[in-house]
Amino acid sequence: MKPASWTRAPLLVVLTVFGAASAQSPAVVPYPQAYKTTLVRYAVVDRSDGMSRDLYVSRDAIEALRGDPRLKEFPAGVLFALDVHGARAIGRDAKTGAPLFEVTPQGRLVRSKHERTLHLMQKVRPGFGSQNWAFGGFDPTTAEPLKLQLPGDCHLCHQAAVMSDMTFSLNLLKHFVSSGTVQYSLCRQPGRQPCPFQ
Ligand code: HEC
Repeated sequence: MKPASWTRAPLLVVLTVFGAASAQSPAVVPYPQAYKTTLVRYAVVDRSDGMSRDLYVSRDAIEALRGDPRLKEFPAGVLFALDVHGARAIGRDAKTGAPLFEVTPQGRLVRSKHERTLHLMQKVRPGFGSQNWAFGGFDPTTAEPLKLQLPGDCHLCHQAAVMSDMTFSLNLLKHFVSSGTVQYSLCRQPGRQPCPFQ
């Protein structure tokens, strides 16, 4: 055999393994029964558009971060969940017409409605990159899957967080793990436009 074919051999192996992984049908994230107790709530993100989100994670993620506070990649199996609530609208800003929401004396949104949207992402394989994560969504009051085109826009938007293993809130989780306190953040962007969590 010529030396040239030897040098090409390792590349072929890598491509074959990668090809097999990406040919698999998208993994399904199962509904996490009793997620409010089986998962750990590590942060609350309020937004100026009146949405208030609880962020949950599985305990193995917390263990992994205790073991390595500078963790770059979560182990396979880690599950993140985001539960959405709406705040009570109390009128409109006289000048801008923007809706105003009821807040606590500390300035946090007062929740009035469960939006019945539980978004999930699970690490299905170890390693770096979006192909190792599966996305899903359920109505948490019925455990019925939401009608979503998966991984669709979840994947596209979360790709912006690829350097923190596809999660936007890794810093909030790290602060939770080191302090034991549920983190709070007010993001002034509407919708799900990312805010830089410090
Ligand atoms: C336009 C951007 C965008 C899209 C689309 C999006 N997300 Fe997110 N997602 C975020 C941001 C930003 C956060 C951090 C929490 C916050 O700011 O409200 C987040 C947080 C999460 C979290 C908690 C872990 C983390 O990354 O911090 C999960 C789970 C999640 N999203 C699942 C989903 C699923 C499932 C979909 C698709 C149905 C989806 N996301 C679509 C922007 C997006």
